[in-house]
Amino acid sequence: MYKAVLLDAIQAAGRILLEGIGENFQISHKSTVNDLVTEVDKRSEAVILEKIRNRYPDHAILSEEAGSSEHSGTFRWIIDPLDGTVNFAHRLPICSVSIALEKEGEVIMGAVYNPFLNELFFAEKGQGAYLNDKPIQVSAQDQIRQAFLVTGFPYQWRDMPHDPVQVFGYFIKQGVPVRRLGSAAIDLCWVACGRFDGYWEHHIHAWDVAAGGLIVREAGGSVTDFEGQPYRLASSKLIASNGRIHEALVRAVQTA
Ligand code: IPD
Ligand code: CA
Ligand code: CA
Repeated sequence: MYKAVLLDAIQAAGRILLEGIGENFQISHKSTVNDLVTEVDKRSEAVILEKIRNRYPDHAILSEEAGSSEHSGTFRWIIDPLDGTVNFAHRLPICSVSIALEKEGEVIMGAVYNPFLNELFFAEKGQGAYLNDKPIQVSAQDQIRQAFLVTGFPYQWRDMPHDPVQVFGYFIKQGVPVRRLGSAAIDLCWVACGRFDGYWEHHIHAWDVAAGGLIVREAGGSVTDFEGQPYRLASSKLIASNGRIHEALVRAVQTA
């Protein structure tokens, strides 16, 4: 069963985050001095990869630190072993593990686990979305002026259109509350369970959002690119919402 393997892997990885956050882990830099990876990211990834490869040696894998496996075929696992590494490196417990399973190019199952809150989000295509086994739904808010929003900023952004700070400023100037938590996977799940009404981000990767995107859709929400077209994993721009404020959110992101 894919679900059993996925849940076993994500819970084992979550335990590694829980134990690791109190330790003296090593930190290294990636694209910029603030784009970090820790020993714990790699430990978490190793456990997930071992469990998936043991059970499904023929499946393809895309995992943030290890990259892409050479397999091709029907199934692909998309893994972020620690989403929110900058938070984790500063011992801020807003971090998660994200694992999705894709079949023929479509995400069919996904889970996001925040071990610090013991919150496990899970969705399977067509079967609804769940938080710790209880069904969840997006919020009912239909007024963007009264919405509670969340976003994330890229590690670096230089002179490109639709500046993330302009979009952020657009809402802040109108008094619309916007949060920036530092884990895209958690942002999406918190839209799915109705804590937030909408989320957007200018530069994300498939591993950040593959699981969370399915969880939002299965909770009744919408997930698109900045043009309002259905989100595809190849796109780096994403807007997710409860659906009711989606059009207004797309318009705001486009025009800010
Ligand atoms: C990051 C987080 C963050 C988002 C960045 C991501 P990482 O992932 O999801 O919230 O703003 O775009 O890269 O590097 O912590 O796995
Ligand atoms: Ca990530
Ligand atoms: Ca990561």
